[in-house]
Order: sequence, then structure tokens, then C-alpha cells
Amino acid sequence: MKLDIDFVRTQFNQLHDDPDFVFASNAGGSYVSNQVNRVLEHYNHHTRGQPYSRYASSALAGEAMDRARQSWAQALNIDPSELTIGPSTSMNTYVIAQAIGELWKPGDEIIVTNQDHEANSGVWRRKAHEKGATIRQWEVEPDTGLLQIESLLPLLCDKTRWVFFTHCSNIVGTVNPVGEITRTIKTGSDARVFIDAVAYAPHHISDLKALGVDGYAFSLYKVFGPHQSLLYINADIHGDLTSQAHYFNSGDPAKDFNPAGPQHAQVAACAGVLDYFDDLHEHHFGVSEMSRNARLQDIHALILRHENALATPILDYLQHHPGLRVIGKSHTGDNDRAPTIAFKPRGQSSQALTHKLQDAGIGTENGNFYAHRLIGDLGIDSDDGVVRLSLVHYSNQQDVTRILAALDSAL
Ligand SMILES: Cc1ncc(COP(=O)(O)O)c(C=O)c1O
Repeated sequence: MKLDIDFVRTQFNQLHDDPDFVFASNAGGSYVSNQVNRVLEHYNHHTRGQPYSRYASSALAGEAMDRARQSWAQALNIDPSELTIGPSTSMNTYVIAQAIGELWKPGDEIIVTNQDHEANSGVWRRKAHEKGATIRQWEVEPDTGLLQIESLLPLLCDKTRWVFFTHCSNIVGTVNPVGEITRTIKTGSDARVFIDAVAYAPHHISDLKALGVDGYAFSLYKVFGPHQSLLYINADIHGDLTSQAHYFNSGDPAKDFNPAGPQHAQVAACAGVLDYFDDLHEHHFGVSEMSRNARLQDIHALILRHENALATPILDYLQHHPGLRVIGKSHTGDNDRAPTIAFKPRGQSSQALTHKLQDAGIGTENGNFYAHRLIGDLGIDSDDGVVRLSLVHYSNQQDVTRILAALDSAL
């Protein structure tokens, strides 16, 4: 079965604003599905105010927020008490670093990568430095930007407390096999594993218990939803971590790792993302009694095939062009390549090329995208950075044709 791209595109009003524009900056923030806007509008029109009181509109507001928590817990196959909904992934990792890092002491070791966005790097490095723990870096191959499991193994030892890495870099686009890497880490050490899935979740919502990780975070504003971030912390370790909530709220799993007051309407709107995926599933597979996570896996199979078909011609073109360097894998044959495609032109700056693409109606950008360490270690100027074309499943073959034509004349 193929993804019904026409059905998909009717769920995103913004796609129809300007037929001459190709949106290719999805990794920076995706369009919002109509289902999400409907929840948001309903919340703001009917239930705005302080939630969780007894009067009708307040009780309904609380129910809308609870629905978001419950349905996302089902989607990720976790318990609702393991989920924190916070304002952004950078803020969520900052806060959880205070809780996790509080336990570190001299002699402890942590492993971070040079592939990650700084949101899953700097906070841990800073905390380790403060606590006197040793920081080890799992390094990418300097030519491809790929992380190899073989170069992680020598870093693991009985002093390793946590390993932090990304499910998919927002530059390299190649998916790290998180389940396999996590099993390897846990076989060779007692270390815990924390994953940044911001660049992966727009392409696939994972079963977190199957992955076996201890922490996992991603941002819903890149997954067709509101500007919120989801943070999973395994219940097994929750009790060891210091609550970051007001002292009288400590012990409430929804608040322990989010000292900010919740953004009520935005939290409620998180459910709209899953309403969208429900509609997508029902459209393709009919009404189903399967678990929410199982339905998401069905949808993933359709999305993967569609996204591979989008990325392949662009990667083929870029790979065979002598005037540039593609970062990450240059094919989708292993089913582990998100359509997040970064490259460095030779003979002109990334910015100059980006401006040409933008003038041709392609919404793309250049820079380091806060993967500052990676861009530097790939030997690329970190201000000019790479050109990044990032597509998602609502992108279509017309977008690809226009991108290829624009690339051809700009190069
Ligand atoms: C891979 C990755 N991790 C983390 C972040 C930070 O997410 P947020 O903007 O929610 O703080 C981003 C944002 O671009 C990202 O691409």
C-alpha cells in the first residue's frame, strides 16, 4: 500500500498558501496539522482559564490536557507518569541535566558525541565539568559524519554512568540504530542511555520500551504539532533523581522535571498530532482495535517508503555532482536515511547557494543548525555551514522536481 499523499496534503492548510513555494526547511519546524489547530482553537474558544477546577470549562481544560498526556504515553508505549511535557527540548534537557547530573562525582564518566545538536551535548558537558566527572567523546567519521558503534566500545567501562547520543542527527540524516546500540551499552556496562530524537520523531514515533532507553526527548513543533517537547524518563530511575519542581510539587511525575507552569493550550494541542495520525491510519487501514503504538508502526511503513522515494532522486543528483560534498549516507537503500539532506558546495558558499535556491522558491537554509561541534569537526566553516534540504511525508514528487531544477540552475 502507498501513502495517499493527496489525503495527507489536505490535512495541512499551510501547504496550499502558495503553490509556487516548496517548503524544504521542515527540520527547523514543520507545518501544523489541521487536527492540532482544531484542538488549539477549541481550547482557546471554550476552555481558556485555569484548568483542573470544578467549573465546567476548567474541568474540560484539564481533561484536554490529560488526553494529551494519556495518548502520547500510549503512542510511545510508556506510562503517563514517565512523561514530562515541557516548552522545548533544549529546556527539557537543561532541566533534566540538573536532576541526572546531581548524582555524578569525580571518577564517574559520561559519553557524549560530536554528532549531536548542542541541546544534547552542552548541558551534559557543563554538568559533568561542575561535578568533576570525566567527559568522553564518541566521535563521528570526519569524512561522512556517521557514528560507528565500533568507536563507542573502547569508551565504555565500569565507570560510565550515562551515554548521550542522537536517534538521527539534524545534519547527517542517517538514523543511529538506537535499540542495538543501547543493548550493546547495557551488555558492556551499567550505563544509562539518553536519546535526542528531535530529528527522528518527524519520521517515526518509536516504541520506547522496545528501544530500552532510559531517557528520550523530542519536539512536537517539528512533528506537525504545537511548540512543546516530550521528555521520557524511565520510571526505574525516577526515584533516584532530584525533583526540579517547587518543593510542594515534588513527587508529582508531571512536574518533577518541569519547573515551568505548563502551557495549557499548547499541552492540550499535543493530542492533535495523534488525532492526525489516527485519521491517517483510519484512512489507509480502516477502523482498528490495535494499540496506538502498533498503528503508528503501520503508518511508519507507509511514510518510510514515501520519504525514501523523495530523498533518493535528490541524493542521486547530489552524489553525482562534482561540485559538492554530501554529508551522511548518499542512498536510502538501508531504510535508515531521513530525507534531511545536508551538503557543502565547493566553489561557492553555502549561503550564496541557499540564496539562489530561495530565490527559486525553495524554502531552505544554511548554517550549523546548532550542531556546531559536528560542522567544525567535518572541517566546514561553522557560520556558513551546510545547505540543508529537509522534507517530511507531506512533501511530494512535484517538490522534488522543483528542488532538482533549482539545484541544477544554482550549481
Ligand atoms: C536534533 C535536534 N535536537 C535538539 C533540538 C532542540 O530542540 P528545541 O528547539 O525544542 O529546543 C533541535 C532543534 O532544531 C534539533 O534539531
